[in-house]
Amino acid sequence: MKLSSSHMDNIPSTPGKFKMEKSPYVHRFRHYSSLAKLTFWSSVFLALIILFFFKSPSTSPPNSTPPDLSRRSLKTTFWGGPAWEKRVRSSARIRSQNGLSVLVTGAAGFVGTHVSAALKRRGDGVLGLDNFNNYYDPSLKRARQALLERSGIYIVEGDINDAALLNKLFEVVPFTHVMHLAAQAGVRYAMENPSSYVHSNIAGLVNVLEVCKNANPQPAIVWASSSSVYGLNTKVPFSEKDRTDQPASLYAATKKAGEEIAHTYNHIYGLSLTGLRFFTVYGPWGRPDMAYFFFTRDILKGKSIPVFEGSNHGTVARDFTYIDDIVKGCLGALDTAEKSTGSGGKKKGPAQLRVFNLGNTSPVPVTDLVSILEKLLKVKAKRKMMKLPRNGDVQFTHANISFAQREFGYKPTTDLQSGLKKFVRWYVSYYDSGKKNSH
Ligand SMILES: NC(=O)c1ccc[n+]([C@@H]2O[C@H](COP(=O)([O-])OP(=O)(O)OC[C@H]3O[C@@H](n4cnc5c(N)ncnc54)[C@H](O)[C@@H]3O)[C@@H](O)[C@H]2O)c1
Repeated sequence: MKLSSSHMDNIPSTPGKFKMEKSPYVHRFRHYSSLAKLTFWSSVFLALIILFFFKSPSTSPPNSTPPDLSRRSLKTTFWGGPAWEKRVRSSARIRSQNGLSVLVTGAAGFVGTHVSAALKRRGDGVLGLDNFNNYYDPSLKRARQALLERSGIYIVEGDINDAALLNKLFEVVPFTHVMHLAAQAGVRYAMENPSSYVHSNIAGLVNVLEVCKNANPQPAIVWASSSSVYGLNTKVPFSEKDRTDQPASLYAATKKAGEEIAHTYNHIYGLSLTGLRFFTVYGPWGRPDMAYFFFTRDILKGKSIPVFEGSNHGTVARDFTYIDDIVKGCLGALDTAEKSTGSGGKKKGPAQLRVFNLGNTSPVPVTDLVSILEKLLKVKAKRKMMKLPRNGDVQFTHANISFAQREFGYKPTTDLQSGLKKFVRWYVSYYDSGKKNSH
């Protein structure tokens, strides 16, 4: 900061060489006046420093462009700087021949953790991104993060809507692939917090695609859609060619919108895009908002569990798919994804656009799920039979997986009984007889 010339005038050019003033009063007056000026300018200087710190978002990396105040709501923790970049690079370093370098969004989530670990195991470079939101217990996300950290995977804490952060990640690492799993999941929560679905599943997806479109080279993108896009479709098993224009929840509608958005970015910018419609994924490190998880918790606690039935006591069934099978599907989709064709934000030729069902092809009634859990937990469940509410859940899901089978040999191998056994073993050891609270 430049000091004013009048202030400069009062400072002797050579220290110690004060001219004696004629009158002591004049001297005292001049002394007080310069002291007041010094105090005044010091206060201005201090105020400017305080203003600077309060105005700039805590997320700004050093030497960043002017801050975008809208980013303040994104709750991105500090990022940037040489040490941070080194960590990002090291996590994304490819360690096998022909390995991929993958940015995994939603890496602290259930599927994201398993996919990240599997990629790392085979020598691919992996960098995670997650905002660790509190849709469900964030301590579970932190525990997954710790697990990944032990195998050298760094999860950057940030929001997929943070364009500056995403651009920076692509500046540091030329990712070959993006595995986009970050989303607001759950069908019923959409009535409580609809905007979180728009924020993550629509705005966030568009932001990810914008950044990918501008990246050079553009990565290939594999992302999670959902079986919920089949909505009120009654033709079984669900095939990728079936209609998906009758979503039964806002969650489903945002995933369906995502598929249309993917089409647009493929069409205009030549991005290679593969959507995966997951069917009720379950397993260790799973999601506490899903029935198999909270049934386990509530059965162990002796609490009653709501078991839904369709109209006329119809069966409610799900094509439960074990996490390891889903991971194999994700890796298969990544390995067969062709390169994007655009550059500099412009399409240079047609690019790959695919959608696959990833299910188990054997729907199981929810009542059977409860019976299996009872056997594994050795506790009788208190079932409370209830009518399936019309607030998002559909009565039946059943995947036709022949397309994924043909394209990358997808073949699920775990039945519900064996998969739940692994889940229960994990659950009991993780929550370690009450040490951790599963709420
Ligand atoms: N698990 C299933 O049965 C299932 C079924 C169909 C589709 N899917 C989809 O698969 C993907 C993964 O699901 P999951 O079961 O692992 O869910 P999850 O909630 O465990 O994982 C999603 C992760 O994304 C993060 N996230 C959410 N919004 C974000 C944002 N704006 N910025 C950064 N991070 C954000 C969350 O913190 C979370 O860790 C999701 O897209 C989900 O919609 C899952």
